[in-house]
Amino acid sequence: MNQKHNSMPMPQFLAGYAKSVEQSIQEHIDARLHTVPEHLLHAMSYALLAGGKRIRPALLLACFKACGGSSEAQAMQAAVSIECMHTYSLIHDDLPCMDDDDLRRGQATCHKQFDEATAVLAGDALQCLAFELLTTLDVPSDMRVDLLHRLTLAAGAQGMVGGQTMDMQAEVEQVHSVLEVERIHIHKTGALIRYSCEAGAILAGASEQQLAACSRYGEAVGLLFQIADDILDATATSEALGKSAGKDEAQHKATYVSLEGLQRARELAQNMQAIALESCEPLAESGQPLIALAHYILERGQ
Ligand code: IPE
Ligand code: IPE
Ligand code: MG
Ligand code: MG
Ligand code: MG
Repeated sequence: MNQKHNSMPMPQFLAGYAKSVEQSIQEHIDARLHTVPEHLLHAMSYALLAGGKRIRPALLLACFKACGGSSEAQAMQAAVSIECMHTYSLIHDDLPCMDDDDLRRGQATCHKQFDEATAVLAGDALQCLAFELLTTLDVPSDMRVDLLHRLTLAAGAQGMVGGQTMDMQAEVEQVHSVLEVERIHIHKTGALIRYSCEAGAILAGASEQQLAACSRYGEAVGLLFQIADDILDATATSEALGKSAGKDEAQHKATYVSLEGLQRARELAQNMQAIALESCEPLAESGQPLIALAHYILERGQ
């Protein structure tokens, strides 16, 4: 086993956020016990509670705090919303018609554990649940509409779904430039991560300057996150990752590693981290957890 990747310590506060987010996810599942078909809810909860890193919720909560947010209940509901959206994207990403993966978050993928139809429907339901959790936030209605609008853009054809489409196309149409890979990554992964950061700032009632700082940070950290994921796919073990390693090469994916090699991918990740750190400057001391998260995301992949 690759000890380095397996032992990469998670900042303490990230583990704390993950625990609170998981508790809140469990409550939202329990609240649906009598209204959702048992089999479907079981598949949703199987995928949701498998123990992801909960990076997007942590980014949302850390940006919320960095911008002076205090009442955490609404931010926590928005954090669960983003984890639902992300988990749906993983279930669909693993389907045989997409990346065709058997392992996710250290357990059988949703379609392997259940069946393809259940996995598609659990993904669909989680996507809707993400929107439901935003529409029922106890915040001013213009803020709710703003968050919903941003999430539709980040998750849909202009964002993640568009990026997933580009990712699939790049398997067959050769990608020659790093700019094209960057475009795929910004859409398939970066958009939802940037949204997480913006949502935290908005819920905190951030100033324009604070929102711009979180947005810029989210953009840099989003790209950094996918570069690190590509490096880990090429260098770590399936056991350490909890998902199948070496898939990108096997499936001819367009990644920073396939195009530029490992060394250059690591340098690009460092450049991206520098941009993320610089973006935190307007947030001063309250941006410290964001700096720690950027370090953690970079170091996982180095
Ligand atoms: C995996 O995301 C998919 C990518 C966008 C790279 P994560 O690495 O955040 O997966 P979990 O949530 O921790 O399982
Ligand atoms: C997944 O990218 C991006 C989304 C799920 C939107 P990958 O295909 O690289 O993610 P992993 O490596 O399977 O987690
Ligand atoms: Mg994929
Ligand atoms: Mg995949
Ligand atoms: Mg990957």
